[in-house]
Amino acid sequence: MYHKYDVVVVGGGGAGLMAALQLARVPGIRTAVVSKLYPSRSHTGAAQGGIGAALGNHEEDHWEWHMFDTVKGGDYLTDQDAAEIMCHNAVETVYELEHLGLPFSRTPQGKIDQRRFGGHTRNFGEGPVRRSCFAADRTGHMILQTLYQQCIKHEVEFFSEFQVLDLILNDGVCCGVVALNVRDGELHTFHAKAVMLATGGYGRAWKITSNALASTGDGVAIAYRQGIPLEDMEMYQFHPTGEYKLGILISEACRGEGGMLLNDKGKRFMERYAPTLLDLAPRDMISRCIYQEIKEGRGINGQDYVHLDLRHLGREVIESKLPDQADFIRVYLGIDPVTELVPTQPTAHYAMGGIPTDLDGRVTVDERNTPLPGLYAAGECACVSVHGANRLGTNSLVDIVVFGRRAGKDMAEFVAHNELVPLPPKPDAYASAQVKELLGRTEGESVADIRTELQAEMMDKVSVIRSEETLCHAQAKVQELKERYSRAAIQDRQSWFNTELTEALELGYLLDISETVIAGALARKESRGGHYREDYPDRDDKRFLRHTLIYNRGEGIQVAYKPVKITRFEPMERKY
Ligand code: FUM
Repeated sequence: MYHKYDVVVVGGGGAGLMAALQLARVPGIRTAVVSKLYPSRSHTGAAQGGIGAALGNHEEDHWEWHMFDTVKGGDYLTDQDAAEIMCHNAVETVYELEHLGLPFSRTPQGKIDQRRFGGHTRNFGEGPVRRSCFAADRTGHMILQTLYQQCIKHEVEFFSEFQVLDLILNDGVCCGVVALNVRDGELHTFHAKAVMLATGGYGRAWKITSNALASTGDGVAIAYRQGIPLEDMEMYQFHPTGEYKLGILISEACRGEGGMLLNDKGKRFMERYAPTLLDLAPRDMISRCIYQEIKEGRGINGQDYVHLDLRHLGREVIESKLPDQADFIRVYLGIDPVTELVPTQPTAHYAMGGIPTDLDGRVTVDERNTPLPGLYAAGECACVSVHGANRLGTNSLVDIVVFGRRAGKDMAEFVAHNELVPLPPKPDAYASAQVKELLGRTEGESVADIRTELQAEMMDKVSVIRSEETLCHAQAKVQELKERYSRAAIQDRQSWFNTELTEALELGYLLDISETVIAGALARKESRGGHYREDYPDRDDKRFLRHTLIYNRGEGIQVAYKPVKITRFEPMERKY
């Protein structure tokens, strides 16, 4: 089936909806959101603890301080022009969300309430500032509901449960996408003047993850297969507090409200590693510290987890400010955080890297940041690069709304000044062949088995601590899994809701992405932010203060580099 729009946004999370809303407000622009989920189920809904903005509702704060924390938190791999835009615009963006109807929690004076979050300091290196604006511990969920309602009001058209399989390019211009209608298995061609990828992250490549089942990196892998390089893929964040063995997120808001991490001796071990910020040090550091405690035998009962202590917060604070956390801990761990210690371990959480873009969300295709006309990206699938080597908590929600909005505005300009590029012959040929091939194999290994092995390998060899040895092992394993994947079979032959088929497609994306994460990690022979190499434990600004680009050029992976944009803050040693 054929559809024609001015803009097609792929993904119905915060970045996609924010962009769609900007477009829908411009008379005459027709926008479709194509999403494999119903938008209100997008992973933005899992962002719990808040959105960072220097409102200063409790103590003095300034967007420049927020920018400094973001750059330092990112271990100086952050592009500072992007950080400046994000932190400056964060303040007006939070008020815009409030005016759109987002029900923020309030101070007794009626202002938007704010809480502490990791790595956010009062002034260059001092103690924590309350900067995270929150709606209890459901902030992402509320952003999603608010933006979805606004999109409906402004008559954005939605194609939900449509899985995107390919980008359509003609003569170097992006002019559409091909998607599978999961409901009946039919392929649809969406022809548009501009396409935006807002497909989220790929945390399902790891065994222990806070990410939803849908976080399989579809847009990132599709772009990569079209020859678009991927930026800083080795920079993957492990959130320090996942529910033990399950990975389900226990929000940093718990520590923002005063929760503490304890080792087997009952000691608040962050006193040793980050004497100023303690349990509110940045995530990369805390995750490494947890590993260190475990390695030195101070995991609980000698095992691979530590405790989160919330008991001293008291029932009232827990139930009013952290109600979802309390529920998740009770339901999934069978523990009452009001009276008991919570077993926790680092969990795969967030991709700092992704599809390279400029400050207006335009996808760029080389070391000189040349844009690909008609193609945009924003949110976790994109790398603008505002988070550098390690994202601060609360900055993902700022990123999606600030850069989603900028991309939406730029696309509105783009479609006003450009004609619709014709489709190439047989625009769905690749997608159609891919589906036919997967459905054509009846004998072979199951996709689920290959996925389980991939997730175990990535967790074991490509997580918080890496080395040449672990990465080479993972590289060989992913090659083996890719080969097995090319022979895997699907038992379900139905066209209706064939989730075995969609999971097979998603596994293909995860395998490609894992390969790029490993390639980036092998090439970066230093430690920076979320990328820690045991064999190269120091940051090496001389050789690696630059962004990695991984290309798929047919003849295999190629690694290239481009400079980091440094405008205000010269790199310094990172201490907390
Ligand atoms: O811990 C959290 O609530 C997660 C927030 C984030 O990733 O920004």
